[in-house]
Formats: sequence, structure tokens, C-alpha cells
Amino acid sequence: MKLFSKPHRPHFLEDVSLIFGHRVRKYGRTPAGVLWKNSEGQQLRFELLAGILDGLPVSATISVNDFGCGYGALYEFLGNLPSLADLTYTGIDISGDMINAAKKQIKSKNAIFKEAIQFDSPADFTFVSGTFNLKIDAADVLWNDYVKSTLRDLWLKTNKGLAFNMLDKNHHDRGDGLYYADATEFLDFCSEFSNDVTLINDYPLDEWTIFIRR
Ligand SMILES: C[S@@+](CC[C@H](N)C(=O)[O-])C[C@H]1O[C@@H](n2cnc3c(N)ncnc32)[C@H](O)[C@@H]1O
Repeated sequence: MKLFSKPHRPHFLEDVSLIFGHRVRKYGRTPAGVLWKNSEGQQLRFELLAGILDGLPVSATISVNDFGCGYGALYEFLGNLPSLADLTYTGIDISGDMINAAKKQIKSKNAIFKEAIQFDSPADFTFVSGTFNLKIDAADVLWNDYVKSTLRDLWLKTNKGLAFNMLDKNHHDRGDGLYYADATEFLDFCSEFSNDVTLINDYPLDEWTIFIRR
């Protein structure tokens, strides 16, 4: 008898997992390995997302959940922030190859990497960078539902703040296997969770970032 079953994994995520696995095997621990164009964009996304930490006391001790952590680039970024003296980090990814790449390089006792699509435990802050972008041939309506139910679940496991980015519908909608999201729609959606919701859409990438704070 099975006592614990895996969380339900929608069939359209199978291809997502395969593609990212293939990318990291081919390009290794590089931005191309997680389908980013370059490291400048990847780092800019991290800088923006980390804005949700502004105002924390100096040398704060925080816990972070990173949903779709890839090979662990956000962990390295956060670890280099002088203000984060004591960081406890959990990164999950649907791709076992990504998790292997992260574990191979990052040996810190403060970092856990796990192949999963749901966190076991809450954290102070949750980050999501690029994880909702590649939908392949999933219907937009299905993907929209999946993103929203995932955000709901992530919010339940977030003690202080959740920061995520998505591709912006106003910039492009190329029908290229990527999902372009309407910032206003997601801002309204996130306002159901909290009164403290911020949209950032004035940066030189075709995307937007939302912060939700408790
Ligand atoms: C564009 S990459 C970004 C990786 C990392 N956040 C970064 O910025 O370097 C998106 C990552 O999300 C992972 N991913 C996609 N859907 C996921 C899901 N439902 N659960 C967990 N990981 C997922 C992919 O395997 C991939 O590693």
C-alpha cells in the first residue's frame, strides 16, 4: 500500500521537465542551460526579485524557497548579498538534471536542492524566476489556471513575501511555446491574497515582476 503519493503533476509539465533537462545537460550551469539569453538578464531578474527583501534589518536571518531553482543561480546571488548573513535556502525543480547540476556545485549546509514541484515547508520569502514562462503546447487557459493555482499554493507556504516574474503580454505574444501574461490580471489576482501587492514593469526586459507581502 502506498502511504504517500507524489503531488499531482499535470501532463503538460512532462515536456517542460524534458526540455530543461536537455538544456542543462547540453549547456551546463550557464544561463543558456536554463533557457535565458544571457547572464545580464538573469542577474537583473534576481536584483529585482531581491527588492522584496529591502527594509530587512542588517544581517537578517531569513529562509527562502526558490520555485524552479534551475542549477541554483539564485542561491549564489543571494549568498553574495552582504546584508544576508544567515540564509536558509530550499530550491526545488521539476528537472532531476537541474537538481543534480545544483548539488554538484553547491555544497553549503544551508542549501537544500530537491527534485519536486511542491515545497514541504514554508519559508519567509518565496522566489519564482522564469518558472512560468515555458508552456510548450499547453493551452493558454490551462496554463493560466496552473500558474494561479501554483501561486495560491506558494502563498500558503510563504510567511513574509512572494516575488515572481512572468513574460509580459504587452510586449510580445509570439505563439512560440512561451506564456505571456497580463500584468493587470495577475495584479488583481494577487490582490486577493494581500493588500500589499507591487508591480514592477519598468525594466529593460519583456516581463514584469510582482511582490506580494503579508
Ligand atoms: C527559466 S528556468 C529558470 C531557473 C532559475 N530560476 C534561474 O533563474 O536561473 C525555469 C526553471 O523552472 C523549472 N520548472 C518549470 N516548471 C516547474 C514546476 N512546475 N515545478 C518545479 N520546477 C519547474 C525548470 O525545470 C527550470 O529549471
